[in-house]
Amino acid sequence: MNKKKTITGFSKLSKRGKIKWIVENFFKEPDKVMRELQSYWHSNEEQQKILDNFSENTISNFPMPFGVAPNFVINAKPYCIPMVIEESSVVAAASAAAKFWMTRGGFKTEIKSTIKLGQVHFLWYGDLAKLNYYFEDIKKTLIKECFVYTESMVKRGGGILDIELINLTEQEEGLFQLMASFETCDSMGANFINTCLEQFSKSLQNYFANSDKFLGKEKDVNVIMSILSNYTPECIVRASVECPIEDLGKFQNGMTAEEFAFRFHKAVRIAEIDPYRATTHNKGIYNGVDAVVIATGNDFRAIESCGHTYAGRNGQYASLSHCTIDDGQFRFWLDLPLAVGTVGGLTSLHPIAKRSLEMLDNPNAKELMCIIAAAGLAQNFSALRSLVTTGIQQGHMKMHLQNILNQLKASKDEEMAALEHFAEEIVSFSAVKQFLEKLRMG
Ligand code: MEV
Repeated sequence: MNKKKTITGFSKLSKRGKIKWIVENFFKEPDKVMRELQSYWHSNEEQQKILDNFSENTISNFPMPFGVAPNFVINAKPYCIPMVIEESSVVAAASAAAKFWMTRGGFKTEIKSTIKLGQVHFLWYGDLAKLNYYFEDIKKTLIKECFVYTESMVKRGGGILDIELINLTEQEEGLFQLMASFETCDSMGANFINTCLEQFSKSLQNYFANSDKFLGKEKDVNVIMSILSNYTPECIVRASVECPIEDLGKFQNGMTAEEFAFRFHKAVRIAEIDPYRATTHNKGIYNGVDAVVIATGNDFRAIESCGHTYAGRNGQYASLSHCTIDDGQFRFWLDLPLAVGTVGGLTSLHPIAKRSLEMLDNPNAKELMCIIAAAGLAQNFSALRSLVTTGIQQGHMKMHLQNILNQLKASKDEEMAALEHFAEEIVSFSAVKQFLEKLRMG
């Protein structure tokens, strides 16, 4: 068959038509792949329609494991945290840290603020002193003309907090920006903010065009773009754990609590100093953060990009978590910018995201920030605990053993034999393969 790798009008094809074109042109066994893709369709047509409407050109669903980490105590309240993640041992690590800290005071959290930001970037060539002089009036006009969009948010206790004029003309001739701050209550607020910003840009252009204070070229405002900023350095939550060093207990290979605390503290220091280590350290934090963010229908790309910018705010990428040992007290904490919502967007449309929020006792946005930060800190604690004691592979590969056995199509009996054998042995793909081969040869 002459395979076609490009097409016009793909989006206009029916779902079956799309799959047919794909399987016939990109796969060796079209009928088998067709059946496979269809097997992941939701059995309930209405539910499938909801999922299809989240995106475009959908041909099937992409399953991811939906797990839970029980025994989290956050600000004295118990939680069972939903996590969507494909990496073995993340949920186990979060659960282990939750249980560990449950008997040592649990996780504590505090929120600095929930301010979100947006910008209108524009070019304007004129008398700067005049622009500064009239800016208060401009600001009032922008806020007033946006009221139609902000009214209901204001009723809920949010809205536009402020608009600042930022002069960037030293970096780029004529370049200015409006930096607007917003309170979006329990919604992540992206649509609300972008709607306000686009209204600001219209109002800004009208203001200059119709004002008799500005003349000639000063009447022209060239708006380049209006968009929220995913960098929200004020929208910060701190999650922390602490206990006397001796309460940390005993560790594998007879490691004492003092030695553990010393090694753990040094591991965090390394991530504060070295960007190579900080990247992996923070990746471990986002193993926990993203899993909860996805499970609750929030935007993990926005949250990650913000967190990484924040991690580099002092000019060098560094650890998001910190540790101190003072007067015999072990203290470990994480500061995380987190712009999340518990109303609107996917949070109320995705059937499982809705259940995740229900499992968390339908938190408001601030409570969800606390839960996500605790999951990130728990994940980081478990990763560092393994790294400075046994190393990461022992636990990781044990969890991965089941994946290897599935991949090698092990029977139930072979699985049992392998689990018993590898309880004492180092797991690797080739070791498991060899073990099964030997077993199969009798
Ligand atoms: C693996 O997904 C995450 C870790 O590498 C994190 C870390 O090294 O801190 C274990």
